[in-house]
Amino acid sequence: MLVSMRQLLDEAAQGGYGVGAFNVNNMEQIQAIMEAARETRSPAIVQASRGARSYAQDLYLYHLMLAATELYPEIPLVLHLDHGNSVETCKSAIDLGFTSVMMDGSLMPDGKTPSSFEYNVGATRKVVEMAHARGVTVEGEIGVLGGIEDGHGAGLDGLSHVTDPEQAAEFVAQTGVDALAIAIGTSHGAYKFAKKPTGEVLKMDRLIEIHQRLPKTHLVMHGSSSVPKELQDIINQYGGKLRPTFGVPVEEIQLGIKNGVRKVNVDTDNRLAITGAIRKVFIETPEKFDPRDYLKPAREAMKKVVAERMTQFGQAGHAGDYQPIPIEEMAKRYAAGK
Ligand code: 13P
Repeated sequence: MLVSMRQLLDEAAQGGYGVGAFNVNNMEQIQAIMEAARETRSPAIVQASRGARSYAQDLYLYHLMLAATELYPEIPLVLHLDHGNSVETCKSAIDLGFTSVMMDGSLMPDGKTPSSFEYNVGATRKVVEMAHARGVTVEGEIGVLGGIEDGHGAGLDGLSHVTDPEQAAEFVAQTGVDALAIAIGTSHGAYKFAKKPTGEVLKMDRLIEIHQRLPKTHLVMHGSSSVPKELQDIINQYGGKLRPTFGVPVEEIQLGIKNGVRKVNVDTDNRLAITGAIRKVFIETPEKFDPRDYLKPAREAMKKVVAERMTQFGQAGHAGDYQPIPIEEMAKRYAAGK
């Protein structure tokens, strides 16, 4: 059974830990997350963007996730839509069976142009009404993240639209979102920072202010790959061309988790791990041509990263803490105003 993200995040808040949300496009990535969750006994959030849905096709994705629930019945598992660009995109995900959606109204439906506060509130509130009626969780976003990923993003520097705490409070009050993504200087992709980030560029102080203003809101950190040097080095050692770069240090994420962050989005680190493992096989054994020869090490490399993050975020060991609540029951609770 796929469960609501609201339940996972409420439990995480109670337990004082964070939950990684890992992006997928294919079977191997889902398998890597599920194996890491089993090994570390972690609840798991699997997320798919619009790009992933069109790459894999909705039904393949959904049925792979159902297979995961059958194969790993002990893992509370959420299927979340990452960066829904419109009410219609969120609706199609809910109709398919996603148990959580992000309505990213910080950008217009083109996924590029920063929107007005009024537009964001209006679109997000519509999604909240539609989703809660069906027990589905909603993540909103206020402020604009840096970078572009899968064609989604304003392509701006991470600091141009940092979240304002008062506006965040207004947004939560007017929309009723379950979780709130905030902009504190991070961006999607590998090239986040030119050097190890200081408080000038990674605004953890702002995150803490937002948490103090909204102590009951589950905060979401996007663009939270750490872009470890070891993973960059493997790619470059085997013929890749990554420029030197820095991500979000794990200790900063852990500071966020102490201050209300419950969902931590990670995609790039897994992409790097997969690509490094594949490059290694290609360079070291160019005679090989069975896709399993490189997809197996790739899947293993991603599993290692995911298991490490699950442990670092504190979700490890919490898979068996609670009984999953069916989303139909969540719908009743929303209707009763609980
Ligand atoms: P990274 O590019 O840092 O992995 O961020 C992923 C993300 O925020 C997906 O929404």
